[in-house]
Amino acid sequence: MYDAFQLNNGVENPCIGFGTFKAADSKSAEIIRTAIDAGYRYFDTASFYGTEGYLAEAIKASGIKREELFITSKAWKTEMGYENVKKAFEKTLETLETDYLDMYLIHWPLPEEGYKDWKRLDIETWRGMEEIYRSGRVRAIGVSNFLPHHIENILQNCEIRPAVDQIEFHPGYTQEMTVQYCKEKNIQVQAWSPIGRSALLNHEMLMEIADSYGVSVAQLCIHYALQRGIIPLPKSSTIERMKQNQDVFGFEISKEDMYRIGTMAQAGWSGLHPDFGSIRGASK
Ligand code: A2P
Repeated sequence: MYDAFQLNNGVENPCIGFGTFKAADSKSAEIIRTAIDAGYRYFDTASFYGTEGYLAEAIKASGIKREELFITSKAWKTEMGYENVKKAFEKTLETLETDYLDMYLIHWPLPEEGYKDWKRLDIETWRGMEEIYRSGRVRAIGVSNFLPHHIENILQNCEIRPAVDQIEFHPGYTQEMTVQYCKEKNIQVQAWSPIGRSALLNHEMLMEIADSYGVSVAQLCIHYALQRGIIPLPKSSTIERMKQNQDVFGFEISKEDMYRIGTMAQAGWSGLHPDFGSIRGASK
C-alpha cells in the first residue's frame, strides 16, 4: 500500500525509516545493527547525532549491500554556508564510509536563536547543496525543521527545489500550516518523533482508538503519519518494538478517527525550535 513515496525529482523515498537520534552511546552500533536485523533498510542520521560512524559500523557488520540501503544525513547549524556545507558533506561521506548519500538535508533554518541574516545564509547553504546534488553524489536534497517562510525563501532563490522537509510530526504536534504548505509545493514531509517520543503512549483517546483497530498507540501514530502522506522515522532500542513499528499496514484509520486524532490538543517540543515565534505569526 505504501512501499515508497515518490519525491519531486522522481526518487522513491521508502515509506518508513529508522531514526538514529539519541542512539549515540556505546550501544549505538548494536541498536542500529538490531534495526537492520529487524528489517530496516532506511536510516536517518545527521552529523549532529554522532551516529554516522555507528551506522557505518553496523552496515559493515551486517554485510548488507550499500545499494539496498537508503541513507539520509544532515548538515548541522555549524556546517551552514556555501563552502562549509560542501566540506560537511565530504566529512559525512567519509564517516559513513560511503561514496554517496540517498538524501542530504539542511538540519535547521537558523544557526542560532534570533539569527537575523538567516535568509542569506540559507540561500548560500542551498547553493552548496545544489552543487553537491549536481555532482551526482546525493540522490535528493532537502531541508529539516523549516517553516513555510524559510522554504519560501529557498524556493524564490533556488534552481533545484527541496525534495523534502523533515519536521517534528505526531498527533500531539501536527504542524498543519507547514504540512499544508509542503503539500501545495510538492515537498514531501517526513516526521521525526512520529510517536511523540513516547509521550503519547498513555493518551486515553489514542489508546481507545488504537484498541479499536487492535494495534498499539505507537502503530496508530505511525500509520496516522502514513495516512497523511507523511514518512515516519520512528526510533526504538528493542527489536520487538522495531518490528512492531514496521507492522503498521494491516488497518486503515477511519475518516472520523483521522479527524479525532487531527484535532487533538497540540503540545509539541516547540521549545526546541529556534524560530518558533514565527509559527505563531510573528514573521521574521
Ligand atoms: P524504546 O527505545 O524503549 O522502544 P519517537 O520515535 O517518537 O521519538 O519515540 C521514541 C521513543 O518511543 C523511545 O523512547 C522508544 O523507546 C519508544 N518507542 C518506540 N517504539 C515503541 C513502541 N512500539 N511501543 C512503545 N514505545 C515505543
